[in-house]
Amino acid sequence: MDKIMNKLKKEIQEFKYKNYENLELFRIKFLGKKKGILTLLFKELKKYPINKRKFYGKIINTLKKNVQNKIQRYTSKKSLKDENMIFDPTIPGKSIEIGSMHPISILKNRMIEIFRKIGFFYVEGPEIEDDWHNFTALNIPINHPSRDMQDTFFLYKNPDILLRTHTSSVQIRYMKKNSPPFRVLSIGKVFRNETISSRSHFMFHQAEGFYIDKKVSFSDLKQTIQYLINSLFGKAKIRFRPSYFPFTEPSAEVDIYFGNNTGWVEIMGCGMIDPKVLKNVNIDSEIYSGFAFGIGIERLSLLIYKVHDIRIYFDNDIRFLRQFKSDF
Ligand code: DAH
Repeated sequence: MDKIMNKLKKEIQEFKYKNYENLELFRIKFLGKKKGILTLLFKELKKYPINKRKFYGKIINTLKKNVQNKIQRYTSKKSLKDENMIFDPTIPGKSIEIGSMHPISILKNRMIEIFRKIGFFYVEGPEIEDDWHNFTALNIPINHPSRDMQDTFFLYKNPDILLRTHTSSVQIRYMKKNSPPFRVLSIGKVFRNETISSRSHFMFHQAEGFYIDKKVSFSDLKQTIQYLINSLFGKAKIRFRPSYFPFTEPSAEVDIYFGNNTGWVEIMGCGMIDPKVLKNVNIDSEIYSGFAFGIGIERLSLLIYKVHDIRIYFDNDIRFLRQFKSDF
Protein backbone atom coordinates (compact mmCIF):
# COMPACT_ATOMS: atom_id res chain seq x y z
CA MET A 1 0.00 0.00 0.00
CA ASP A 2 2.76 2.47 0.90
CA LYS A 3 4.50 1.80 -2.39
CA ILE A 4 1.32 2.51 -4.32
CA MET A 5 0.81 5.75 -2.39
CA ASN A 6 4.33 6.94 -3.15
CA LYS A 7 3.94 6.09 -6.82
CA LEU A 8 0.68 8.00 -7.04
CA LYS A 9 2.13 10.99 -5.18
CA LYS A 10 5.00 11.15 -7.62
CA GLU A 11 2.72 10.86 -10.64
CA ILE A 12 0.49 13.67 -9.39
CA GLN A 13 3.47 15.89 -8.65
CA GLU A 14 4.95 15.30 -12.06
CA PHE A 15 1.79 16.00 -14.00
CA LYS A 16 2.49 18.58 -16.76
CA TYR A 17 -0.32 20.67 -18.14
CA LYS A 18 -0.50 20.63 -21.94
CA ASN A 19 -4.04 21.50 -22.82
CA TYR A 20 -7.60 21.18 -21.63
CA GLU A 21 -7.82 17.57 -22.76
CA ASN A 22 -4.81 16.28 -20.92
CA LEU A 23 -5.96 18.07 -17.78
CA GLU A 24 -9.36 16.44 -18.09
CA LEU A 25 -7.80 13.00 -18.58
CA PHE A 26 -5.70 13.63 -15.47
CA ARG A 27 -8.85 14.49 -13.52
CA ILE A 28 -10.73 11.41 -14.72
CA LYS A 29 -7.76 9.15 -14.06
CA PHE A 30 -7.61 10.11 -10.37
CA LEU A 31 -11.02 11.46 -9.46
CA GLY A 32 -13.33 9.82 -12.03
CA LYS A 33 -16.61 8.82 -10.37
CA LYS A 34 -16.42 5.14 -11.37
CA LYS A 35 -12.85 4.26 -12.18
CA GLY A 36 -10.80 7.10 -10.75
CA ILE A 37 -7.79 5.65 -8.89
CA LEU A 38 -8.43 7.62 -5.73
CA THR A 39 -12.15 6.86 -5.86
CA LEU A 40 -11.41 3.15 -6.08
CA LEU A 41 -8.89 3.41 -3.25
CA PHE A 42 -11.50 5.03 -1.00
CA LYS A 43 -13.83 2.13 -1.77
CA GLU A 44 -11.07 -0.38 -1.13
CA LEU A 45 -10.37 1.28 2.20
CA LYS A 46 -13.75 0.21 3.56
CA LYS A 47 -12.46 -3.33 3.77
CA TYR A 48 -9.58 -2.26 6.05
CA PRO A 49 -9.63 -2.26 9.86
CA ILE A 50 -10.38 1.10 11.44
CA ASN A 51 -6.82 2.17 12.34
CA LYS A 52 -5.45 1.42 8.84
CA ARG A 53 -8.52 3.02 7.33
CA LYS A 54 -7.79 6.24 9.23
CA PHE A 55 -4.09 6.19 8.36
CA TYR A 56 -4.48 5.60 4.62
CA GLY A 57 -7.64 7.69 4.49
CA LYS A 58 -5.54 10.74 5.42
CA ILE A 59 -2.95 9.99 2.77
CA ILE A 60 -5.52 9.43 0.03
CA ASN A 61 -7.29 12.64 1.05
CA THR A 62 -4.01 14.54 0.69
CA LEU A 63 -3.50 13.03 -2.76
CA LYS A 64 -7.04 14.08 -3.69
CA LYS A 65 -6.26 17.63 -2.53
CA ASN A 66 -3.10 17.62 -4.64
CA VAL A 67 -5.03 16.59 -7.73
CA GLN A 68 -7.70 19.24 -7.08
CA ASN A 69 -5.05 21.91 -6.53
CA LYS A 70 -3.42 21.09 -9.86
CA ILE A 71 -6.74 21.31 -11.65
CA GLN A 72 -7.56 24.55 -9.91
CA ARG A 73 -4.23 26.06 -10.80
CA TYR A 74 -4.71 25.47 -14.50
CA THR A 75 -8.29 26.62 -14.64
CA SER A 76 -7.87 29.75 -12.55
CA LYS A 77 -8.10 33.24 -14.12
CA LYS A 78 -4.38 33.88 -13.84
CA SER A 79 -3.40 31.03 -16.12
CA LEU A 80 -5.95 31.93 -18.75
CA LYS A 81 -3.35 33.93 -20.61
CA ASP A 82 -2.50 30.69 -22.35
CA GLU A 83 -5.10 30.30 -25.07
CA ASN A 84 -5.22 26.57 -24.49
CA MET A 85 -6.53 27.15 -21.03
CA ILE A 86 -10.10 26.57 -20.11
CA PHE A 87 -12.59 29.23 -21.17
CA ASP A 88 -13.61 31.51 -18.36
CA PRO A 89 -16.83 33.40 -19.10
CA THR A 90 -16.27 35.81 -16.22
CA ILE A 91 -13.30 37.54 -17.83
CA PRO A 92 -14.28 40.95 -19.25
CA GLY A 93 -14.28 41.03 -23.08
CA LYS A 94 -11.43 42.58 -25.03
CA SER A 95 -12.44 46.03 -26.17
CA ILE A 96 -12.64 46.49 -29.93
CA GLU A 97 -11.22 49.68 -31.33
CA ILE A 98 -13.85 51.38 -33.46
CA GLY A 99 -12.43 53.30 -36.40
CA SER A 100 -13.68 56.60 -37.70
CA MET A 101 -15.24 57.59 -40.98
CA HIS A 102 -12.84 59.21 -43.45
CA PRO A 103 -13.69 62.93 -43.90
CA ILE A 104 -14.20 62.38 -47.63
CA SER A 105 -16.72 59.62 -46.92
CA ILE A 106 -18.46 61.82 -44.37
CA LEU A 107 -18.85 64.60 -46.91
CA LYS A 108 -19.89 62.15 -49.62
CA ASN A 109 -22.67 60.78 -47.42
CA ARG A 110 -23.74 64.26 -46.44
CA MET A 111 -24.05 65.28 -50.08
CA ILE A 112 -26.00 62.16 -51.00
CA GLU A 113 -28.40 63.00 -48.17
CA ILE A 114 -28.69 66.68 -49.14
CA PHE A 115 -29.54 65.79 -52.73
CA ARG A 116 -31.78 62.89 -51.80
CA LYS A 117 -34.05 65.42 -50.13
CA ILE A 118 -34.65 67.18 -53.44
CA GLY A 119 -35.20 64.01 -55.40
CA PHE A 120 -31.73 63.22 -56.72
CA PHE A 121 -31.04 59.55 -57.29
CA TYR A 122 -27.51 58.34 -56.44
CA VAL A 123 -25.54 56.29 -58.99
CA GLU A 124 -21.92 55.32 -59.54
CA GLY A 125 -19.93 54.93 -62.73
CA PRO A 126 -16.74 53.07 -63.65
CA GLU A 127 -13.33 54.56 -62.87
CA ILE A 128 -11.89 53.00 -65.99
CA GLU A 129 -13.54 54.71 -68.95
CA ASP A 130 -13.31 54.86 -72.69
CA ASP A 131 -12.58 57.94 -74.73
CA TRP A 132 -16.16 58.33 -75.96
CA HIS A 133 -17.82 58.54 -72.51
CA ASN A 134 -15.06 60.66 -70.98
CA PHE A 135 -14.49 63.08 -73.89
CA THR A 136 -16.22 62.69 -77.25
CA ALA A 137 -19.82 62.39 -76.09
CA LEU A 138 -19.25 65.34 -73.76
CA ASN A 139 -18.36 67.47 -76.73
CA ILE A 140 -14.70 67.70 -75.79
CA PRO A 141 -12.82 68.18 -79.06
CA ILE A 142 -9.92 65.95 -80.12
CA ASN A 143 -7.34 68.66 -79.50
CA HIS A 144 -8.65 69.63 -76.06
CA PRO A 145 -5.81 69.87 -73.51
CA SER A 146 -7.49 67.44 -71.11
CA ARG A 147 -6.92 64.69 -73.68
CA ASP A 148 -3.23 65.44 -73.65
CA MET A 149 -0.82 62.88 -72.24
CA GLN A 150 0.07 65.51 -69.63
CA ASP A 151 -3.38 65.38 -68.07
CA THR A 152 -4.79 61.95 -68.63
CA PHE A 153 -3.78 58.44 -67.61
CA PHE A 154 -4.28 56.49 -70.83
CA LEU A 155 -3.74 52.79 -71.06
CA TYR A 156 -0.44 52.28 -72.82
CA LYS A 157 -1.61 49.34 -74.93
CA ASN A 158 -5.01 50.79 -75.76
CA PRO A 159 -5.25 54.59 -75.76
CA ASP A 160 -9.03 54.34 -76.09
CA ILE A 161 -9.12 53.28 -72.42
CA LEU A 162 -8.25 55.69 -69.63
CA LEU A 163 -8.76 56.47 -65.96
CA ARG A 164 -11.67 58.91 -66.01
CA THR A 165 -10.57 62.52 -65.66
CA HIS A 166 -13.94 63.65 -64.31
CA THR A 167 -17.28 62.25 -63.21
CA SER A 168 -19.09 63.94 -66.12
CA SER A 169 -18.76 60.62 -67.95
CA VAL A 170 -21.48 59.31 -65.61
CA GLN A 171 -23.88 61.80 -67.25
CA ILE A 172 -23.36 60.05 -70.57
CA ARG A 173 -23.66 56.55 -69.13
CA TYR A 174 -26.87 57.39 -67.29
CA MET A 175 -28.55 59.44 -70.02
CA LYS A 176 -27.88 56.81 -72.64
CA LYS A 177 -29.70 54.15 -70.62
CA ASN A 178 -32.56 56.18 -69.13
CA SER A 179 -35.16 58.50 -70.51
CA PRO A 180 -35.90 61.81 -68.84
CA PRO A 181 -37.07 63.21 -66.53
CA PHE A 182 -34.35 62.39 -64.00
CA ARG A 183 -32.28 63.95 -61.26
CA VAL A 184 -29.01 62.18 -60.63
CA LEU A 185 -26.01 62.54 -58.31
CA SER A 186 -22.79 60.60 -58.62
CA ILE A 187 -19.64 60.75 -56.50
CA GLY A 188 -16.37 58.98 -57.13
CA LYS A 189 -12.66 59.02 -57.83
CA VAL A 190 -11.17 60.82 -60.80
CA PHE A 191 -7.57 60.76 -62.01
CA ARG A 192 -5.28 63.34 -63.57
CA ASN A 193 -1.64 63.21 -64.43
CA GLU A 194 -0.72 66.02 -62.07
CA THR A 195 2.12 66.65 -59.70
CA ILE A 196 1.09 66.25 -56.10
CA SER A 197 1.04 69.49 -54.11
CA SER A 198 -0.93 71.04 -51.28
CA ARG A 199 -3.68 71.96 -53.78
CA SER A 200 -3.62 69.09 -56.28
CA HIS A 201 -3.32 65.34 -56.39
CA PHE A 202 -3.32 62.73 -59.18
CA MET A 203 -6.47 61.23 -57.65
CA PHE A 204 -9.35 63.05 -56.04
CA HIS A 205 -13.12 62.78 -55.68
CA GLN A 206 -15.79 64.60 -57.63
CA ALA A 207 -19.51 64.97 -57.27
CA GLU A 208 -21.51 65.24 -60.44
CA GLY A 209 -25.15 66.24 -60.54
CA PHE A 210 -27.55 66.62 -63.42
CA TYR A 211 -31.22 67.24 -63.88
CA ILE A 212 -33.15 66.82 -67.11
CA ASP A 213 -36.80 67.54 -67.64
CA LYS A 214 -39.09 69.76 -69.71
CA LYS A 215 -38.42 73.43 -69.03
CA VAL A 216 -35.43 73.07 -66.69
CA SER A 217 -33.85 76.51 -66.58
CA PHE A 218 -30.79 78.31 -65.28
CA SER A 219 -32.82 79.54 -62.31
CA ASP A 220 -33.40 75.92 -61.29
CA LEU A 221 -29.65 75.45 -61.38
CA LYS A 222 -29.07 78.55 -59.26
CA GLN A 223 -31.64 77.46 -56.68
CA THR A 224 -30.16 73.99 -56.45
CA ILE A 225 -26.62 75.27 -55.95
CA GLN A 226 -27.76 77.81 -53.35
CA TYR A 227 -29.58 75.00 -51.52
CA LEU A 228 -26.42 72.86 -51.54
CA ILE A 229 -24.22 75.68 -50.26
CA ASN A 230 -26.70 76.62 -47.53
CA SER A 231 -26.91 73.00 -46.45
CA LEU A 232 -23.14 72.71 -46.20
CA PHE A 233 -22.10 76.14 -44.93
CA GLY A 234 -25.22 77.65 -43.45
CA LYS A 235 -26.32 80.83 -45.17
CA ALA A 236 -23.49 81.86 -47.50
CA LYS A 237 -23.01 84.38 -50.26
CA ILE A 238 -22.28 82.88 -53.66
CA ARG A 239 -21.83 84.25 -57.14
CA PHE A 240 -22.05 82.75 -60.61
CA ARG A 241 -19.17 83.77 -62.86
CA PRO A 242 -19.41 83.13 -66.64
CA SER A 243 -17.06 80.37 -67.72
CA TYR A 244 -16.55 77.74 -70.37
CA PHE A 245 -17.05 73.96 -70.41
CA PRO A 246 -17.47 72.05 -73.68
CA PHE A 247 -20.49 70.16 -72.33
CA THR A 248 -22.51 73.12 -71.00
CA GLU A 249 -23.88 76.27 -72.60
CA PRO A 250 -24.03 78.68 -70.91
CA SER A 251 -21.42 77.66 -68.35
CA ALA A 252 -20.55 79.17 -65.02
CA GLU A 253 -18.21 78.81 -62.13
CA VAL A 254 -19.52 79.27 -58.62
CA ASP A 255 -17.58 81.22 -56.02
CA ILE A 256 -18.36 81.36 -52.34
CA TYR A 257 -17.60 84.37 -50.15
CA PHE A 258 -15.48 83.70 -47.08
CA GLY A 259 -15.27 87.20 -45.63
CA ASN A 260 -12.87 90.08 -46.21
CA ASN A 261 -9.69 88.13 -45.45
CA THR A 262 -10.23 85.20 -47.81
CA GLY A 263 -12.59 86.80 -50.31
CA TRP A 264 -14.22 84.76 -53.09
CA VAL A 265 -13.21 81.12 -53.46
CA GLU A 266 -14.08 79.10 -56.54
CA ILE A 267 -15.80 75.86 -55.64
CA MET A 268 -17.50 74.35 -58.66
CA GLY A 269 -18.39 74.36 -62.33
CA CYS A 270 -21.87 74.15 -63.77
CA GLY A 271 -24.11 75.07 -66.64
CA MET A 272 -26.99 74.13 -68.90
CA ILE A 273 -26.26 70.85 -70.65
CA ASP A 274 -25.22 71.57 -74.25
CA PRO A 275 -27.80 70.38 -76.84
CA LYS A 276 -24.94 68.59 -78.64
CA VAL A 277 -24.42 66.41 -75.55
CA LEU A 278 -28.13 65.61 -75.40
CA LYS A 279 -28.03 64.69 -79.07
CA ASN A 280 -25.13 62.28 -78.43
CA VAL A 281 -27.32 60.35 -75.99
CA ASN A 282 -30.48 60.58 -78.11
CA ILE A 283 -32.38 63.03 -75.94
CA ASP A 284 -34.45 65.53 -77.91
CA SER A 285 -33.21 68.99 -76.94
CA GLU A 286 -36.34 70.55 -78.44
CA ILE A 287 -38.36 68.89 -75.68
CA TYR A 288 -35.88 68.53 -72.84
CA SER A 289 -33.32 70.73 -71.20
CA GLY A 290 -31.16 70.24 -68.18
CA PHE A 291 -28.39 71.49 -65.96
CA ALA A 292 -25.24 69.85 -64.66
CA PHE A 293 -22.59 70.65 -62.09
CA GLY A 294 -19.29 69.23 -60.89
CA ILE A 295 -17.59 69.74 -57.52
CA GLY A 296 -14.26 68.57 -56.14
CA ILE A 297 -14.95 66.88 -52.82
CA GLU A 298 -11.46 67.38 -51.36
CA ARG A 299 -11.57 71.11 -52.19
CA LEU A 300 -14.93 71.41 -50.53
CA SER A 301 -13.71 69.45 -47.54
CA LEU A 302 -10.66 71.74 -47.20
CA LEU A 303 -13.06 74.66 -46.85
CA ILE A 304 -15.50 72.96 -44.50
CA TYR A 305 -12.89 71.52 -42.14
CA LYS A 306 -10.40 74.37 -42.63
CA VAL A 307 -7.63 72.04 -43.73
CA HIS A 308 -4.73 73.54 -45.67
CA ASP A 309 -3.16 70.64 -47.50
CA ILE A 310 -5.02 68.16 -49.71
CA ARG A 311 -2.33 65.49 -49.20
CA ILE A 312 -3.45 64.92 -45.63
CA TYR A 313 -6.56 63.13 -46.97
CA PHE A 314 -4.38 60.40 -48.44
CA ASP A 315 -1.65 60.08 -45.81
CA ASN A 316 -3.75 57.89 -43.53
CA ASP A 317 -2.30 59.64 -40.52
CA ILE A 318 -4.38 58.34 -37.65
CA ARG A 319 -3.95 61.61 -35.70
CA PHE A 320 -5.81 63.43 -38.47
CA LEU A 321 -8.44 60.79 -39.15
CA ARG A 322 -9.26 60.24 -35.50
CA GLN A 323 -10.63 63.78 -35.24
CA PHE A 324 -13.61 62.86 -37.35
CA LYS A 325 -14.84 60.22 -34.96
CA SER A 326 -17.61 62.34 -33.51
CA ASP A 327 -19.27 62.88 -36.87
CA PHE A 328 -20.68 59.40 -36.91
N1 DAH B 1 -16.14 68.01 -65.37
C1 DAH B 1 -15.65 69.29 -64.93
C2 DAH B 1 -14.23 69.15 -64.43
O1 DAH B 1 -13.81 68.08 -64.19
C3 DAH B 1 -16.52 69.84 -63.83
C4 DAH B 1 -17.85 70.22 -64.34
C5 DAH B 1 -18.08 71.49 -64.80
C6 DAH B 1 -18.89 69.31 -64.38
C7 DAH B 1 -19.30 71.87 -65.29
C8 DAH B 1 -20.14 69.67 -64.85
C9 DAH B 1 -20.31 70.97 -65.31
O2 DAH B 1 -21.15 68.85 -64.91
O3 DAH B 1 -21.55 71.34 -65.80
O4 DAH B 1 -13.57 70.13 -64.27
